[in-house]
Amino acid sequence: MRNRWIKVLGTGSSVPDRVLTNGDLERMVDTSDEWITTRTGIKERRIAEPQETTATFALRASQRALQEAGIAPEDLDLIVVATVTPDMLFPATACLVQKELGAKKACGFDLEAGCTGFVYALAVAEKYLLAGGGEKALVVGAETLSKIVDWQDRATCVLFGDGAGAVVLGVADEPGILATYLGCDGNGGSLLELPAGCSRFPASFDTVNNRLHYIKMSGNEVFKFAVRVMEEASLEVARRAGISTQEVDLFIPHQANIRIINSAAKRLEIPEERIFVNVHKYGNTSSASIPLALDEAYREGRIREGDLLLLVGFGAGLTWGSAIIRW
Ligand code: ACO
Repeated sequence: MRNRWIKVLGTGSSVPDRVLTNGDLERMVDTSDEWITTRTGIKERRIAEPQETTATFALRASQRALQEAGIAPEDLDLIVVATVTPDMLFPATACLVQKELGAKKACGFDLEAGCTGFVYALAVAEKYLLAGGGEKALVVGAETLSKIVDWQDRATCVLFGDGAGAVVLGVADEPGILATYLGCDGNGGSLLELPAGCSRFPASFDTVNNRLHYIKMSGNEVFKFAVRVMEEASLEVARRAGISTQEVDLFIPHQANIRIINSAAKRLEIPEERIFVNVHKYGNTSSASIPLALDEAYREGRIREGDLLLLVGFGAGLTWGSAIIRW
């Protein structure tokens, strides 16, 4: 019988003040509130101001999570920031957050696994603490996708938004994270990519003129992958935790599209009242989506002590990941 577990000690989140509604988008590209709502469930999303960066929201979410956990920044051993929109390629956004928090003894790094980033970071931090790397970790999912979205491409610009969520993890002698499961398949990499700005296509006049610094996505293919993998990843992590998905008290899926969420929940036989949804308010915030939803669910009183939570995500890579948490 295990006597060392990793528990969530506190959650926090932060989103920009500026709201961009479907009506606003109707004035920017050839789209309609009706199309966006019926195809995605999204009604509005939050957009960062020019001076706000991913670290802005990562820091605020982290401060709230630390406050909720009652943990001082100096007590952190590890900071992982999951993001596809770091402030810069280097230094890591985790180091920017570490500096602002004053988390003097923590090591920190960024992790990129598309929209699955937070679940990957959660699993990595859990294993790090379990292996004896320290006692406390901060895991953040943070994005300013508005800065890499092509605002001329109606097929993608209506989907994404900005924000951050964070959790503080600590070593405990009773169950917390029961199981995690991660996977990837690089064969599907070209379905969702940001082609330029790194070693393959370094920034040049051509890459800018060809709009290669923006998200490119084959929405339909990603949709089919997502529906399949959400079910598979949920079933596998439930198997690892020794539970059935019908026992789950709250299902917190990646908030990309209400149709993907509902079809996964249906296949998993999870009733509507046990699904947490906030995609209508924020759109797809990639790595931020699951921790933002987790924090909102907690603050709305949707999570009680002892509840079983199922987190599941999918994204660029292609990647997928899931976790079962006893709260
Ligand atoms: N407004 C109006 N019409 C539009 C818009 C828009 N914003 N965008 C596309 N259309 C049109 C298309 O041009 C197409 O028209 P056509 O039939 O005349 O060619 C029609 O609507 C249907 O387009 P589809 O792409 O087939 O629409 P679909 O029902 O597949 O919905 C969507 C598109 C919402 C993008 C869906 O495929 C989806 O949600 N895919 C998953 C995306 C996802 O989850 N991505 C995030 C991955 S996570 C990460 O790592 C970032």
